[in-house]
Amino acid sequence: MKMARSTTRILCRKIVIMPFITFEGSEGCGKTTQVKRLVIHLEKIGVVPEVFREPGGTLIGEAIRHLLQHSEENHAMTPEAELLLFEASRSQLVREKIEPAITRGDWVICDRFFDSTSVYQGAARKLDPVLVERLNTFVAGDCVPDVTFVLDVDRATARSRLGGRKIRDRMEEQPEGFYERVRDAYRELARRDTGRVVLIDGARHVDQIATEIWRIVRQRFALDSEIRTRRSAR
Ligand SMILES: Nc1ncnc2c1ncn2[C@@H]1O[C@H](COP(=O)(O)OP(=O)(O)OP(=O)(O)O)[C@@H](O)[C@H]1O
Ligand SMILES: [Mg+2]
Repeated sequence: MKMARSTTRILCRKIVIMPFITFEGSEGCGKTTQVKRLVIHLEKIGVVPEVFREPGGTLIGEAIRHLLQHSEENHAMTPEAELLLFEASRSQLVREKIEPAITRGDWVICDRFFDSTSVYQGAARKLDPVLVERLNTFVAGDCVPDVTFVLDVDRATARSRLGGRKIRDRMEEQPEGFYERVRDAYRELARRDTGRVVLIDGARHVDQIATEIWRIVRQRFALDSEIRTRRSAR
């Protein structure tokens, strides 16, 4: 089973090479805003990406999202249960949505993915990082993002952006040290995995950030030459 999946992935990549892009960072850093901006850029050149969010994106995943973020019961949740619920939601998303989209040759954008688990449950909750990585691999298999944008903002900035939100989720109600560990762990991830993870200064204006991300996406996936080819073919 594992063999078959990885063969498919390699074949898909050789034939179509459609990117799998993820956005990461603390609450309120601007992930969803930048996902939307990237979609707008892509649609302008005729690419309609599949967009998902974590936890969620499937029927089971959305039920898990509610349990994790807003349910009455979640205050009694153990860190271990939290870890397994995030992984369960991801498993559904990978099998039901991401793998089929990649196989079809669609672009895939995901608002959070397995790095969130490494950072929040591994680094911030201090669960065994080796176990967390094994679970991430077990669940995501070959669905590894081609590029991950980490939007880096300080706590005060994120807080002021979230200030207007009426419904707060559980991760927004952790002690301050938790957010420091989250930010440090994302920065460390970007230092360690320079090939995949791009640290973006998320404190700037939305437009500036969107422009930088679009430039990187165009460069990484050779979109400029494709756009030129399309124009000259008209
Ligand atoms: N660069 C920016 N400058 C100022 N405000 C921003 C910027 N990016 C996003 N915002 C605003 O901050 C708030 C949070 O942004 P957004 O929902 O995109 O963050 P998020 O990372 O997706 O948060 P969450 O983790 O809670 O889903 C929104 O009101 C959004 O309009
Ligand atoms: Mg969001």
